[in-house]
Amino acid sequence: MKRSKRIETLDRRPVNLDGFINEWPEMGFVAMSSPYDPKPSVRVEDGKIVELDGKQREDFDFIDQFIADYAINIDRTVESMAVPSLDIARMIVDINVSRKEILRLISGITPAKMTEVMNHLNVVELMMGMQKIRARRKPGNQAHITNLKDDPVQIAADAAEGALRGFAEEETTMGVARYAPLSAMALLIGSQAGRPGVLTQCSAEEATELELGIRGLTTYAETLSVYGTEKVFIDGDDTPYSKAFLNSAYASRGLKVRFTSGSGSEVLMGSSEKKSMLYLECRCLFVTKGAGSQGIQNGSVSCIGVTGSVPAGIREVLAENLVAALLGLECASSNDQSFSNSDMRRTARTMLEFLPGTDFIFSGYAAEPNYDNMFAGSNFDAEDFDDYNVLQRDMQVDGGLRPVTEEEVIRVRNKAARAVQAVFRSLGLSPVTDEQVEAVTYAHGSKDTPSRDVTADLAAAEDVLKRGITGIDVVKALAETGFEDIASSVLNMLRQRVAGDYMQTAAILDRDFHVLSGVNTPNDYMGPGTGYRVDGERWEEIKKIPHIINPKDM
Ligand code: 5AD
Ligand code: CA
Repeated sequence: MKRSKRIETLDRRPVNLDGFINEWPEMGFVAMSSPYDPKPSVRVEDGKIVELDGKQREDFDFIDQFIADYAINIDRTVESMAVPSLDIARMIVDINVSRKEILRLISGITPAKMTEVMNHLNVVELMMGMQKIRARRKPGNQAHITNLKDDPVQIAADAAEGALRGFAEEETTMGVARYAPLSAMALLIGSQAGRPGVLTQCSAEEATELELGIRGLTTYAETLSVYGTEKVFIDGDDTPYSKAFLNSAYASRGLKVRFTSGSGSEVLMGSSEKKSMLYLECRCLFVTKGAGSQGIQNGSVSCIGVTGSVPAGIREVLAENLVAALLGLECASSNDQSFSNSDMRRTARTMLEFLPGTDFIFSGYAAEPNYDNMFAGSNFDAEDFDDYNVLQRDMQVDGGLRPVTEEEVIRVRNKAARAVQAVFRSLGLSPVTDEQVEAVTYAHGSKDTPSRDVTADLAAAEDVLKRGITGIDVVKALAETGFEDIASSVLNMLRQRVAGDYMQTAAILDRDFHVLSGVNTPNDYMGPGTGYRVDGERWEEIKKIPHIINPKDM
């Protein structure tokens, strides 16, 4: 066939490197609604749910049972289920119906009903819903802080810069799992060097992660994964009950906890039971609520390649974020894995959460270059900081970040690197040379830094665990080596765990360690003139992008 030059040109566009597949419900490739999804129903007998979405109690799998017993308000369910799904959908976008009223109504509905409600909302209505229903009044953002070498000095510098740029939470993970204690420590020090009050997490194997948390080297945990079918849950050696138990283990030691779920995981693991991705994700979110977690990281997350490949997949991703909010959960709304070769497509996907605002627009914006992201690459990277800041300015939207100056960046990176050097020396861990501090201060990524002695680092990491080093030891080491301000911030992070206020839904801390949460600063949006608005000091801050013509200078 003689080719059209027009079509050939289009064929070469980056978007055509992406994978797309048509609906195939038998294998779970269906976003919002499968012909095999159950019809909503509920029946209560003697104060117990005995029928859920067309299934009788004796046929329940452990997910149904957990949801029926812990996730649905039994006193309300018959009344809530009697309200037509279309009416509920309309209330969600009606500015005259408050968030509180909707949450109360929603507390009695089932996963299949929730799926039906979402199917009535188009993407703009889903955004309107999110603007009103997200828990915290002010949106926030979370960063990935990782590098290819697991270099703790770079972790500290990147964490400091990320904190300076406005991230309220920072998480790390490792290429080599045994680095975890050093990574957690460096992240803690670096984050507080950039901006006091930033929460930190080290995603590791469950027992290690819990131990690092108990020792005060981290302040939150996030990757407690739940799944929408029993088979996939069991493949992960888990049940809703074991996850609820782990949640309590963290929470009882004063760590903030959120679960992780997201559409596409059941498809990837080959057990979707022919159900739509949205219905299965609703099940995950009900389990999360039933387990008592304050929040969720969801929006397909690491499975976005699957959800993004089917029709209405990206609409589904926003729908699942909104379902989380409707259940009263904090929502860290993904945007944390690269899924498209097209800059247009990856930006458009993020706008769905960026424009209405979520509790954390990214549940992992890569605050390092893409090649250093050990979570497998994010939808936005360190190279996109200025684009992101301009988007905030263009639309007068608070995406949780702020422009910074080169001087500030160099200053906080250097301070964080020196603080890690001092703490490692003081605690007798692996050495950090002046050359490394200098390199990391000015580096973009790990390609610009000398490699560390991995054997020495891993011995030191083991030592941290063996010697029982805790957050208090880090505080002492910082105070003794002239970093009193960082010491005081780290100590304050430990204090938060005793107070426990930051375990409330959607809590973050400001630089004075005041909690901003869905409880003390709840979202009160009810149409124009209400809710969070970008104005005052914050608007001035957003306007100050680096490359700008100042009329006063002319
Ligand atoms: N469902 C459940 N857990 C997920 N994670 C990422 N995506 C999903 C998903 N769709 C969790 C996994 C992974 C971590 C980065 O987040 O636990 O290891
Ligand atoms: Ca995350």
